Amino acid sequence: MNIDITGKAVVITGAAQGIGRALALGLAADGARVAVLARDRARAQAVVEEIAALPDAPPALALAADVSDEAEVGAAAAEVDAAFGRVDALINNAGWMPGSQPVLRTDVAVLERVLRSNLIGGFLTTKHFAPLMIRGGGGRIVYMSSIAAVQAVAGGAPYSGSKAALNMLSAVTHVELVGQGIRTVAIAPGLTDSPGMREVATAEQIEKTAATYPGGRIGAPEDLVGLVTFLCSDAANHLSGTVVTVRPPAPR
Ligand SMILES: NC(=O)c1ccc[n+]([C@@H]2O[C@H](COP(=O)([O-])OP(=O)(O)OC[C@H]3O[C@@H](n4cnc5c(N)ncnc54)[C@H](OP(=O)(O)O)[C@@H]3O)[C@@H](O)[C@H]2O)c1
Repeated sequence: MNIDITGKAVVITGAAQGIGRALALGLAADGARVAVLARDRARAQAVVEEIAALPDAPPALALAADVSDEAEVGAAAAEVDAAFGRVDALINNAGWMPGSQPVLRTDVAVLERVLRSNLIGGFLTTKHFAPLMIRGGGGRIVYMSSIAAVQAVAGGAPYSGSKAALNMLSAVTHVELVGQGIRTVAIAPGLTDSPGMREVATAEQIEKTAATYPGGRIGAPEDLVGLVTFLCSDAANHLSGTVVTVRPPAPR
């Protein structure tokens, strides 16, 4: 089996920090031409410069867009097209984890913000980047879901709801676009060490969850590089429309 992504053009959203940044560095180290998309171009550029310091990584591209803003996503797609001339994979990683939000105490503005980043963002990037993939003969869309999509936890309605919806967006996109060469997949990590996670998880929650995971530790963003590299490679060409769960739900 040949797991090779050399030269593939891969767009990664929310890539200034955390899981997105680790994927940008990891896929570039594996030979992909990476477009690093972040809300703030200077933060995207900082990751591009980290990539430039890697031995043998192809030059990367910094893109600025809020994924919930259709005009900005459309402009980012045009920029990638001008720079790379094609898109082979889109990693819909941008997302917001709002922490515990009990239904009876949560302002609807929190729900709207979660849905804008986590669901509308994935919808708009699919709408604007998939046509470039189709034009080039097909490609892979990865939706960064979560184990929260299938685990009901008190306070999880906005986030879990957004990720469950993302799983269905991935499944529907498969049905609509598989005939045009698009493969989709939602991947569902469990607790993973990132700046966003550190803002909302308690030390007790991290320790309790780590005890149930391989090696007795929570995930590192880098743990996802192998899976995403495989999914972007031709070796995964007959995998589509499904959810890949990284770890089972931690007991609550
Ligand atoms: N860490 C975990 O335990 C875990 C587990 C399962 C799934 N996930 C998912 O994995 C993904 C990455 O999370 P992470 O842990 O790396 O979190 P993170 O450290 O909070 O990073 C998320 C990134 O997404 C960006 N983002 C959010 N909304 C955006 C928008 N509307 N437009 C553009 N960028 C936006 C953020 O940009 P700003 O810095 O500009 O806000 C941030 O750079 C998320 O979808 C998250 O839900 C995380």
